Amino acid sequence: MKAVDAVIRARLHSEVVLVRQVAEYIVAGGGKRMRPALVLLAAQAMGYEGAQHHELAAVVEFIHTATLLHDDVVDESDLRRGRDTANALFGNAASVLVGDFLYSRAFQMMVGVGSMRVMEVLADATNVIAEGEVLQLMNCHNADIDVEEYLQVIRYKTAKLFQAAARLGGILGGADRDVEEGLARYGMHLGTAFQLIDDVLDYSGEEAETGKHLGDDLAEGKPTLPLIHVLKHGAPAQAACVRKAIEEGGRDSFAEVLAAVKATGALTAAREHARAEAAMAVDAIAQLPASIYKTALIELSAFSVSRKS
Ligand code: IPE
Ligand code: IPE
Ligand code: MG
Ligand code: MG
Repeated sequence: MKAVDAVIRARLHSEVVLVRQVAEYIVAGGGKRMRPALVLLAAQAMGYEGAQHHELAAVVEFIHTATLLHDDVVDESDLRRGRDTANALFGNAASVLVGDFLYSRAFQMMVGVGSMRVMEVLADATNVIAEGEVLQLMNCHNADIDVEEYLQVIRYKTAKLFQAAARLGGILGGADRDVEEGLARYGMHLGTAFQLIDDVLDYSGEEAETGKHLGDDLAEGKPTLPLIHVLKHGAPAQAACVRKAIEEGGRDSFAEVLAAVKATGALTAAREHARAEAAMAVDAIAQLPASIYKTALIELSAFSVSRKS
């Protein structure tokens, strides 16, 4: 991970001052670096001994960082990684444009790796993430969304990049198609669990730990699983309160919605769903040979559910 960090820092360079400022600002915020860790662990679980995994791990983190810059503009968020978002500090225009810089820098780096297959995986993932964000935009303020549609959004916007990261490790390590598909399924389930918990933490997390504001999802009228659960299983008054909150957005009804979410067991149900996804992730890599890297992949799946940040 130290080597990946060195690649990230070296590749952030630009002659344009504002590009450097914004890009270095968001990277200095840190982040969990889960996606690059996945690239390294999957590659090493396959016995990979080259050095391209550091470069590809940095590529995946750049794509992730670009999506965050864009996402905070779209979501009008002003806190990330425990500090002001780039859009709050530098404005929306700078965030969008530096996000584009990071995407295109990631493309330059992946061309350098020189594998058509690697480029295919990353191009597809980046495209699907964009579709996921747009799909979510279409579903904002939609209280009639069903669980399957919600799951499609989170698979596209979040799990797809986890999948690409795990698959890339497999490709680098020369996995045969079966094992590569297993790693890809691992990443998809892990990423789905990860986003399910993210949506739980938006109601029950600690801002000091998540580094993000609670209630951002409700403010935007985002119908996440905890709310869908209330709509389906809550008493008529609870469901009506949540429906109105989704349709109108804003933070005024947060306390009332949170009470309904808690009383109906919606957070427990969403956590349960995340746990099931994490278990499927572990099953998907059963065929990997035992190693400390495989053990770490299994631990990461547990972390995606137990995490508080
Ligand atoms: C944030 O991802 C965006 C989501 C997909 C929920 P992370 O929680 O991995 O963000 P950092 O990189 O650790 O800040
Ligand atoms: C993040 O989704 C997904 C991407 C960045 C593509 P969210 O909007 O739910 O994540 P946070 O809460 O802002 O990190
Ligand atoms: Mg957001
Ligand atoms: Mg968002």
